[in-house]
Amino acid sequence: SGELPKLHEAFGNRFRIGAAVNPLTLKTQAGLLKRHYNSVTAENEMKFERLQPSEGAFTFERADAMIDFAAANGMGVRGHTLVWHNQTPDWVFVNADGSAASRETLLSRMKTHIETVVSRYKRIIYAWDVVNEAVSDKPEEFLRPSRWLDIIGEDFIEKAFEYAHAADSNALLFYNDYNESDPAKREKIYSLVRSLKEKGIPIHGVGLQAHWNLDNPSLDDIRAAIERYASLDVKLHITELDVSMFAFEDRRTDLTEPTEEMLEKQAERYRQLFRLLSEYAEHIPSVTFWGAADDYTWLDDFPVRGRKNWPFLFDIHQQPKTSFQNVIEDA
Ligand code: XIL
Repeated sequence: SGELPKLHEAFGNRFRIGAAVNPLTLKTQAGLLKRHYNSVTAENEMKFERLQPSEGAFTFERADAMIDFAAANGMGVRGHTLVWHNQTPDWVFVNADGSAASRETLLSRMKTHIETVVSRYKRIIYAWDVVNEAVSDKPEEFLRPSRWLDIIGEDFIEKAFEYAHAADSNALLFYNDYNESDPAKREKIYSLVRSLKEKGIPIHGVGLQAHWNLDNPSLDDIRAAIERYASLDVKLHITELDVSMFAFEDRRTDLTEPTEEMLEKQAERYRQLFRLLSEYAEHIPSVTFWGAADDYTWLDDFPVRGRKNWPFLFDIHQQPKTSFQNVIEDA
């Protein structure tokens, strides 16, 4: 309907409104994306395994197609992601004979990858998730075990930021993580970013993935996380927002559509969340959903394979939900 307010216009004086996209949704959701969003992120197509599946053989076609879509529609692009323990091909960490690569080799591969990718999208990508999910969820552990950490050591993180900054000194460089509002993990992320800043490493922001659900995390925990990270004098981006209808432990698979109760609860939750984010808009210039409408979400397969979920402001027909109305009403 022509009268429907546009999401990105409603929040235009606060933050960009982004969506993660993939080659399928760039087609099936093109109209919705153009209308309501002014930023896009590649859901998978800029990950290491997609851009450099084997050494030196870069494949940019699908990432470029998204860049072209964004350019044609005046949208910004967030880059995701350069260094992560997932979706990174094995060859990166091993020698031709199958033995583990040395620190020197791995650093050189990291540098080549980052240099090639970041310089290709120089002046196009406004912010990069340079390092993704390096902090552990376990109370007794600081960094997550990974081959980046094993082989290079803790400074793999600073090296990644330095290489990215050398390739594009204008791009905003982010550390991005989930469970970012959990108090214990929050303190670890805070320490990590603080120590990077103290060492003079070029880091400009913290990405809050914001894979949330109807009840968790609490608004108080989200507020405390925003305040804690913002106290480091860095920007905050909400990078992967979705509001799952299910608690993480809930493994039900029987629902084929959301109940009225779920939809109402979600709408109230979205109202509260956008109120909170708006309060801190000065610190949060970008809010990206990990998708756009309920016809497609990665949560249809995670953490329960094949279970439908409905985490967005638009329904499976890409029509506005009560969640959308509540968010717009308060904007
Ligand atoms: C997810 C994608 O949505 C899926 O399609 C893919 O199979 C796995 O990765 N944290 C991140 C994102 O930083 O890259 C993840 O994206 C979701 C969790």
